Formats: sequence, C-alpha cells, structure tokens
Amino acid sequence: MPSVVGVSGGVHRPSRTTALVRAILDAVGERMEAQPRLIDLGAVGQALLASADGSLPSEGRDVVAAVEGADLLVVASPVYRASYTGLFKHLFDLVGQDALAARPVILAATGGSELHGLVIEHQLRPLFGFFGAFTVPTGVYATPAAFEDDRVTAAPVRQRIDRAVAEAVAILEANRKLVGAAAGR
Ligand SMILES: Cc1cc2nc3c(=O)[nH]c(=O)nc-3n(C[C@H](O)[C@H](O)[C@H](O)COP(=O)(O)O)c2cc1C
Repeated sequence: MPSVVGVSGGVHRPSRTTALVRAILDAVGERMEAQPRLIDLGAVGQALLASADGSLPSEGRDVVAAVEGADLLVVASPVYRASYTGLFKHLFDLVGQDALAARPVILAATGGSELHGLVIEHQLRPLFGFFGAFTVPTGVYATPAAFEDDRVTAAPVRQRIDRAVAEAVAILEANRKLVGAAAGR
C-alpha cells in the first residue's frame, strides 16, 4: 500500500496548517487505499536538532526516513514573513537531495492574508524543484476564513484540495506503471 506522508510546518496549537494537511490526507484516502502519516513539526521539531557529533535522535531519523520513503508527500507550512517556517526548511535540509526525485508532492500553505497566496509558487515550488520532485500544478492556500473550528469548509479551498489530490494520484499511478514496465510487469 502506498505510504502517504503529510508534513505540517506549524509550531502553534491548534494549527490551521495541520488541519489543512489532515483534510488533504483525508481526500487522498477517499481516492485510493493508502497508509497516511501526519508529521506535525510542532510536536517533533526538537527531535530534528542534531547533537554535537551531527547525529539525530531516533525520532528525528524516523521522521526524515518517513519523508524520504513516502510514495506521495503532502507538504504545508504557515506563511511566516512571506515564506515557509524555519522549522519546515530545517526538515528539508536534512532530507537527501536525491531522495524525492520524481515523487508526487502536493504543496499547501496557510496564511493570515490572501496577499501571500503566491508563497506556494515563489517559495515552496522552487524548494521541491531543487529535489526534482513532481509538484502537482494545483497548490492549496487557505486563510482563516476557510476554516470552521478545526475543519476546512470553504468550497473553493475544498475544490482545490480535490484537484490537487486527483493530480497527485494520477502521477502516482503513472509512476507505478513506469516502474512496472521497467520490471516487465
Ligand atoms: C511569526 C509569524 C509570521 C507570520 N507572517 C505572515 C506573513 O508574512 N503573511 C501572512 O499572510 N501571514 C503571516 N502569519 C500568519 C500565519 O501564517 C497564519 O496565521 C497561519 O495560518 C498560522 O498557521 P498555524 O495555525 O498552523 O500556526 C504569520 C504568523 C506568525 C506567527
């Protein structure tokens, strides 16, 4: 079963970013059988700090391995100072530079204002371009108006979630066929 890993780069509780990642993972689950895992950097951030010899605690190594081994990634950060959070970048500084090649990635962000919606195109997409990942064309951006309690309720955001997930599942299936063809299956 494909592993689907969601990363939420928020540090506050409760987190709209985590709620958005959860909504996207749920939408993935509606389209395909998957093993979803949500990595909340606010909860595991400490484990990503290396000790003096450069080694990470086992929890941190497990997080990096889960990201590197995911068949489909959902990455989301709150906008901080017009970009992703430092903690979000720190996680991806630990990820091997070839580990995400050709991997489907859904990009998402939450911000206080609509004005920073292009953070997905100007900050997140280039980062995952560096990794050679297949970022899906549809990004998902949400402001506080898109949420009720801990749920994403705004129809335009929900539509973008569905579109992004459909795109990601299509890439995942195409990848699987390519691998199968290469293996003669
Ligand atoms: C330090 C800091 C910087 C922020 N900078 C921005 C910003 O540049 N643009 C923006 O639209 N919102 C900004 N915000 C608002 C957050 O992006 C927004 O509230 C987000 O949804 C919070 O996500 P969370 O609930 O997962 O923590 C900032 C918030 C904080 C705490």
